[in-house]
Amino acid sequence: MKTADGRIRDAMRRYLISRGALAGGVLYRARGPLPRGEAPDGTGSRAPAMPAAGAGDPGEPAAPGVRPAATGTVVRTSPAGPRGAACAHGAQDRAGFTRDTRSSLQAGLFEPGAAAPPDLSALDLEGLRAEVARCTRCPLSATRTTTVFGDGDPRSRIVFIGEAPGREEDLQGVPFVGRAGKLLDKMLAAVGFDRSGVYIANILKCRPPGNRDPNEEETAACEPYLARQLELIEPAVICALGRVAGQALLGAGAPLKTLREGTHRYNGIRVMVTYHPAALLRNPNLKRDAWEDMKALRKVYDGTA
Ligand code: URA
Repeated sequence: MKTADGRIRDAMRRYLISRGALAGGVLYRARGPLPRGEAPDGTGSRAPAMPAAGAGDPGEPAAPGVRPAATGTVVRTSPAGPRGAACAHGAQDRAGFTRDTRSSLQAGLFEPGAAAPPDLSALDLEGLRAEVARCTRCPLSATRTTTVFGDGDPRSRIVFIGEAPGREEDLQGVPFVGRAGKLLDKMLAAVGFDRSGVYIANILKCRPPGNRDPNEEETAACEPYLARQLELIEPAVICALGRVAGQALLGAGAPLKTLREGTHRYNGIRVMVTYHPAALLRNPNLKRDAWEDMKALRKVYDGTA
């Protein structure tokens, strides 16, 4: 089995080949589609089906209340795990790159712009969308069909964040439009949210080949876009869908079970974590716990928790 470093090197080679910068080389070998989301870790107990669309409290979200500034207390350590900490892909430097990627940058093998976070502070959402559409900060830009920026109401007080686009999303440029997306719509409706009234985005704006998990370089390269997006939307609550999204936002190596407990903060915004809909498709036994999560989320959103 290939190591993480080996996979990164392959992705770089593929990226360079796609840009005509390298003739030949080892082409990326997809290891077959990996299901998105975390491995089921449920109780195995009987779970009622997630209420059908339209069940629960219908109607629009509660009237907007006071929105906490996005510049509030920061409790995450970093979006992609503690910088400088030893990790599966090697120690990261302050820009979030491993030694491997750093030496590739120095050797000119990687998009040089990837080292410096872009200054996005003057961009509004449409400007940011355009910036994302031309992004080449990581090798996923070479394999994407289109970027997937986000969808829904940018004035929403709640934002749902998944992991990364899948095949359908990559084709359509819209998050959560495949099977997992249909289930997400039902999860939203079950607690009285309409998809058009919330905002939906992902940790990554580009699809990882074969739907593998985002790696740390990709997460770090994409994070400034999500951070600016959330700064502009200023939601009161974020719901992270699955372990990967939860860990990317909260910088934690914590298991999903722990992340699902209570509320957390990302740049001052309250964060709750629940299962990724794809995990619920794989293991319907998890739906009961997901339903409890969604009810708790709704209470926090309503300010009645
Ligand atoms: N899974 C995700 O995490 N995001 C999508 O947009 C689709 C599937």
